[in-house]
This record gives sequence, C-alpha cells and structure tokens, in this order.
Amino acid sequence: MGVRITPSILNADFAHLDSEIAKIAPVSDLLHLDVMDNIFVPNITFDFESAAAIIASSPIPVDSHLMIADVDQLAPAYADAGSASVTIHAEASDDPSKTLRAIRAEGARAGLALKPGTDIDLYSGIIDDVDMFLIMTVEPGFGGQKFMEAMMDKVRKTRKIIGDRPIWLQVDGGISLETIEIAHEAGADTFVAGSAVFNSPDPAEMVTRLRELAEK
Ligand code: DX5
Ligand code: ZN
Repeated sequence: MGVRITPSILNADFAHLDSEIAKIAPVSDLLHLDVMDNIFVPNITFDFESAAAIIASSPIPVDSHLMIADVDQLAPAYADAGSASVTIHAEASDDPSKTLRAIRAEGARAGLALKPGTDIDLYSGIIDDVDMFLIMTVEPGFGGQKFMEAMMDKVRKTRKIIGDRPIWLQVDGGISLETIEIAHEAGADTFVAGSAVFNSPDPAEMVTRLRELAEK
C-alpha cells in the first residue's frame, strides 16, 4: 500500500509561504491547502483568489481541503484552478455526489471529508464518485489539536468499505511521530501533518521521518 504525506501549510509562516512550501516540496507528495470561510468553521484562511495563486505557483500538486459553507457552488472552481485533488465536507454539501462529479469533470480527484461526528455508513452508497475519503481526526478549524484516537474505528470501517478500490484514505488532525503509525495501522494511507511539520526546526526531515514510520 502506497503512503502519501501531504503537509498542511496552516501552521506555516503565511508571510513567507513560498519559502515555507519550498522547504517541504522535494520530499512531499502533495501540498494540503486548508480553505476556511469563518462560516463552516470558526476560522478563516484563504479566499478563492489567494488560494488560486498558491495552487498556480506550488511546485508540487495541491490537495485543497474546503471547509466552506457554499462548497457545492465553489468546489469545481478549485479544481479548475489546478488542484490535483479537491475535498468537500459531506456536512456542507446538499448533494455530495453531484459536487464530487463536478470536481472530476474539471480534472481533479474528488475527496469526501467527514467531521468526527459524521458516520461513514451514510456515504458508502456514493463510493463510486469518491477518489479519497478524509476522516478528520480533530474537529476542523485549527491546527495543533490533539489526535482523536477514537476515530480509528471509523478509519478501519472506511478501509473495509473501500475494499480493493483505488480510493485513498486520508487522515487530518494531530498527525505526528507519536500518532502516524496508529493511523496507518488502522488503514490510512494519506497523511496530513501541519504543526508537526512546520513547528519542527527541519520541516523536510520531519516529513521524511513521518513517511518512514508510516511505511514501516
Ligand atoms: C484542521 C485542518 C488541518 C490542520 C492540521 O481543520 O484541516 O489540515 O492544518 O494541523 P495539525 O497537523 O497541526 O493538526
Ligand atoms: Zn486539512
């Protein structure tokens, strides 16, 4: 099973994003871009124009994680802007299946994210429209929160539902040297890490160490 490490720049230095991204690009699979609108979550990061500029200039493919209320309307534009992957929250969407198809139609992988309180069983019926499930291991909104180990049951269940389909299984929130093996063991293959990477004195080395642990 292939492992992907997708560092989140949420905890990077926003005043020097280009150089922050350059630090991790050579050793990372994708750049995880957290888009928050202060409505779906109580925090705000990038509007569409700033996100599109980051997507356009990133040296590695971008994995856009949309934590926004009007996701059905906006998600296809993030795909059209060049994201390799666009993830929507099931809780924010009126018609996840339709929006996931619209993302694919713009040429990006379609991701479906679930907050900690949302059951995967509700969405197993639309699995054919999904290229990646994102099981949140914190409440979305902020970096630096504690990994919710209780989510590993949901990760295991999702892995079982995926079966042998080529669908990625991502975890996001509190992934670190202490937790990545637990998440991998449960079945995750794609790992977001924000504060663990960017609060480290050597972000690239941290990505490499996380990968080594997940590949063990
Ligand atoms: C939280 C974001 C995460 C966040 C992870 O809502 O979706 O991507 O950046 O940060 P850490 O790794 O610090 O939990
Ligand atoms: Zn995220």
